[in-house]
Amino acid sequence: MEKYIPVVVIKELGETDKILTALKDAGIQTAEITFRTACAAQAIEYACKKYPEMNIGAGTVINAKQCEAALKAGAQFIVSPGLSVAVAKCCRENNVPYYPGCVTPTEIMQALGLGITTVKFFPAGVYGGLKALKTLAEPFPQIKFIPTGGVDRNNMDEFLAFDKVEAVGGSFLVKEALEKMEEK
Ligand code: 3PG
Repeated sequence: MEKYIPVVVIKELGETDKILTALKDAGIQTAEITFRTACAAQAIEYACKKYPEMNIGAGTVINAKQCEAALKAGAQFIVSPGLSVAVAKCCRENNVPYYPGCVTPTEIMQALGLGITTVKFFPAGVYGGLKALKTLAEPFPQIKFIPTGGVDRNNMDEFLAFDKVEAVGGSFLVKEALEKMEEK
């Protein structure tokens, strides 16, 4: 897995090229395209075809119906803000990695019970940041985390320096990539 997972919101299908090109130019090969907009599935399908070298996944997937649509569109990984057993089952059946949002030991135990070993720590900032994550990680040596939500340029290196952190996620990566592109 790449160390950076940009949280992408595509409002109109026509924006997809600009955003993905900006990410690629910034050296990022992954995009989590979120199911927060009506064109999410279409954008994933388009991105998978046009950018086969990228790792395109779906984010904000909150039910099995969205998960099925994302997988049909070609999503290579699925992210949720919380943990959905239905989404976990759908991913397992399709052999696609699922990163559910977990911020409590109970949620992590549930994820482990579903065979999941990497979870999204979301929203990382308001749930105590790195200090909380270190304490939460202690009883679960087999679990890796993807802190997201409140992660930015100022704190991402601290998160990444913690060996239980597999990657960091955030919308800041998209914002920065677009800013860099506009400067050119
Ligand atoms: C997400 O769904 O992962 C968050 O909206 C990203 O949070 P951020 O905007 O603070 O990066």
